[in-house]
Amino acid sequence: MARRATERPPTRHALTGWPTDGLSYGGDYNPEQWAPEVWREDVRLMREAGVNIVTLGVFSWGLLEPREGEYDWGWFDEIIGLLHESGIAVDLATPTAAPPSWLLHAHPEVLPVDAYGVREQPGGRLGWCASSPVFREHALRITTALAERYGDHPAVRLWHVSNELGGGNGRCWCDVSAARFREWLRAEYGTVEAVNAAWGTAFWGHTFADIDHIEPPRSEQHKVNPGLFLAYERFSSDELLEHYLAEAAVLRAHSEAPVTTNFMVGSGRHVVDYSDWAAHVDVVANDHYTIVDDPVREQDLAFAADRMRGLAADRTPWLLMEHSTGAPSWQQRNRAKAPGEILRNALAHVARGSDGAMFFQWRASTAGTEQFHSAMLPHAGTESRVWREVVRLGDALRRLRSIAGSPVEPAKVALLVDEESAWALQQGLKPHRALRYSRETRLWHRVFWQRQVLVDVLPVDADLDGYDLVVLPTLLVVSDAQAARVDAFVRGGGTALVTYLSGVVDETSRVRGGGYPGAFRDLLGVTTEEFRPLQADETVRLSDGGEVTDWSEDTNLHGAEAVVTYADGDSAGRAAVTRNAVGDGAAWYVSAQLPLDSATRIADRLIDELGLPRAVEAGTGIEAVRRRTPDGDVLFLVNHSDADETVAVSGRSLLDDTTFDGAALVPAGRVVVLRESAAE
Ligand code: GAL
Ligand code: ZN
Repeated sequence: MARRATERPPTRHALTGWPTDGLSYGGDYNPEQWAPEVWREDVRLMREAGVNIVTLGVFSWGLLEPREGEYDWGWFDEIIGLLHESGIAVDLATPTAAPPSWLLHAHPEVLPVDAYGVREQPGGRLGWCASSPVFREHALRITTALAERYGDHPAVRLWHVSNELGGGNGRCWCDVSAARFREWLRAEYGTVEAVNAAWGTAFWGHTFADIDHIEPPRSEQHKVNPGLFLAYERFSSDELLEHYLAEAAVLRAHSEAPVTTNFMVGSGRHVVDYSDWAAHVDVVANDHYTIVDDPVREQDLAFAADRMRGLAADRTPWLLMEHSTGAPSWQQRNRAKAPGEILRNALAHVARGSDGAMFFQWRASTAGTEQFHSAMLPHAGTESRVWREVVRLGDALRRLRSIAGSPVEPAKVALLVDEESAWALQQGLKPHRALRYSRETRLWHRVFWQRQVLVDVLPVDADLDGYDLVVLPTLLVVSDAQAARVDAFVRGGGTALVTYLSGVVDETSRVRGGGYPGAFRDLLGVTTEEFRPLQADETVRLSDGGEVTDWSEDTNLHGAEAVVTYADGDSAGRAAVTRNAVGDGAAWYVSAQLPLDSATRIADRLIDELGLPRAVEAGTGIEAVRRRTPDGDVLFLVNHSDADETVAVSGRSLLDDTTFDGAALVPAGRVVVLRESAAE
């Protein structure tokens, strides 16, 4: 079934210029929390740190429009003027993430309703339903007023629509949303018969007599028809995108400056489908926060950055809109960054294609929910390690300005991700409710990342030309057309590595019969007759010595060779990993949740057989990526380990003018960036 409702032509501007000269450096700036004397100190310190852009106005609606239709621009004019005089660009936000109290008081019906029918209370943020015509009207009024006033202001170099759309209002189950969902279903499926056929509603007698009888999947989502569940996820993403597009259209009508909104791209599932959204932003921007419980935080960062590059496609560079200088305040035990980590994290994003590094936020708040969130200017003020590192990062970004606009070296490995698969897995796939989409995507990224092999994390519909290897980790939901593209890639000489559950259902979440994984079984030369999910304390040994947890399968070979087999358990003797030669290409299947060591062995064999380029040959703690500039390659070396490491390269450091002839020492926890030259 084609997705008619969501097939929108791209609406982005041709980029009218990057918002800053050189790399962008700055953060969210919330001057309304401070007296005007403080603004002057802010601007002076911003200059000291090398800040050249700030995001303004994200939460300012209630102060800019204190009563419906009454505006107070004076303070905003002053602050924008002050920034402009100081040469600091403004990324101007439409303030719609923060509906004012008068709006919520007059129209409580704009607040989102949860799956159990409970309406959210005011006091958070993004407290609005994307389908609400009342909210839309008010949001477009403030957006129009802002665009009319500042659309031509020379300080305004970028527009920032709302904030992290979907972070709080990603789904709404109110009656207004339900009615909009039915309109969406009519556009997507046409008739109720088509809906019934696609979702297999005959099961449990769920056949609908009319589209008007269809309700959103309220209450317990794991009992919901999987087709309905997936449709509501798609609808919800589309509905928020409509809101973004409505605000963006107003801004574009009044201003030449590029328009963006900050995504929340990480390695897990996303609240909206950014692969649909990316075509509608002029600069692809991301917020990334490391998670304290993540044992390989630096790889999560690399994964997110590689995924941003995949979304930006021809619009590299992208922009890191927010990260933190230290502890956030929304985790259980918020972790301060280690000395040197601010620079290391920021430059890891830059290495992977961000043309800047921005933070939440400039000055630490003393009040409000996030009063203990770290900032560029901490509560301690300038007599602090954080401040010194912030100044040092500003200096580093200035020294690196010659890389602005340059692409990252082309990758030979593509890893395909898809929100629909992530959503469908997360619904609580019946064989095993504890599976996590990010577990497999991270594993297969990590085995290349630790070998300095660059991976582009791509939307499933991206162009595969130019890649040697395509990896499909648990890509559950696959259409015939998507499967055919992978098939053609392999028949054209490429190699694909497909892991368990990929292609098991079609785009309406219906199981493909005839043996798993239905969409790929011919290409893989293997079928699975039965899944064998493992219990919490159960492991299965592999012939390569690895131990499988959580997932195994009973496979049968149909032309493929077994590379690794199950050594014990009920699948003993069957293939766990297979390889099928297809013309000049090959298709690998991984039917088990592999441990890191087994996956590493497979990656090493592929690196070797396909000659996949490593940026440098170094230990697993070294991250290495190149950006291609007109003056030659710039190599980023990030040492994530606690031991110094020497890497065989030559060139001149861009951070401190050291020269390296044949060997560069990368101290533990440090970053070396060098413009390469041939060894003498
Ligand atoms: C982001 C958000 C910011 C700030 C930050 C720190 O998700 O966009 O406004 O809240 O997190 O928690
Ligand atoms: Zn709603």
